[in-house]
Amino acid sequence: MRILVCKNYEEMSKKAAQMILSQVTLKPNSVLGLATGSTPMGMYKELVSMYKNKVIDFSEVTTFNLDEYYQLPITNDQSYHYFMHENLFNHINVKKENIHVPNGMVKDIEAECSRYDNFIKESGGIDIQVLGIGHNAHIGFNEPTINFERGTHLVDLKESTIEANARFFDKIEDVPRKAITMGTGSIFKARKIMLLACGEGKAEAIYNTVYGKVIPEVPASILQFHNDIVLILDEEAASKLNPEDYKIV
Ligand code: PGA
Repeated sequence: MRILVCKNYEEMSKKAAQMILSQVTLKPNSVLGLATGSTPMGMYKELVSMYKNKVIDFSEVTTFNLDEYYQLPITNDQSYHYFMHENLFNHINVKKENIHVPNGMVKDIEAECSRYDNFIKESGGIDIQVLGIGHNAHIGFNEPTINFERGTHLVDLKESTIEANARFFDKIEDVPRKAITMGTGSIFKARKIMLLACGEGKAEAIYNTVYGKVIPEVPASILQFHNDIVLILDEEAASKLNPEDYKIV
């Protein structure tokens, strides 16, 4: 694991956007795995500004989002489909047909999950996967559980995740109880992985991800086995790590 520690959230966001820029510059038809949540918002802002300054071109890029709430219409401003359009897709030149977000509104969830997995496969696989991390070390919506899930699937969200996400909704009862997420297996297949974390609240999850046992109860711990992974953290998220294990950037 390569661990880079930035002074603050802005620096973390810039560093992350630079990594995406390098990827897309080297391979214009890159397949990007994208994440929602408050952590990557700054990175998306940077990417939009790079696009406006003609530094990056998304015209050949394909994107796959990690997850989507179950049974939350895409017109709802808390759906991840909405989030991604609002924060990134509406402001860059990615082609509509190259954007993929799981559809949480379908009746046949199993068919939707295999359709999503097949799309990823047919696109040649994910070149770089952006990840946030939950307080419980979930990645995507792969919650702590008893086994690592291979492909896209429907999950019951943990109470702690529902509570954490309630800040975006009017009331906690509005937070969906289920979501569709790419499996840990699908995430692991990405050629490169870039995990972002900021704030003291993530320090323990990061500690367990870096030093803990590789167990599905700590979903992000499996990333220890990936051979091309970078963690980009702010100082607070890195506060429980041994300084010998990271590079300050
Ligand atoms: P956050 O969520 O970026 O809003 O903290 C991350 C996650 O739950 O995966």
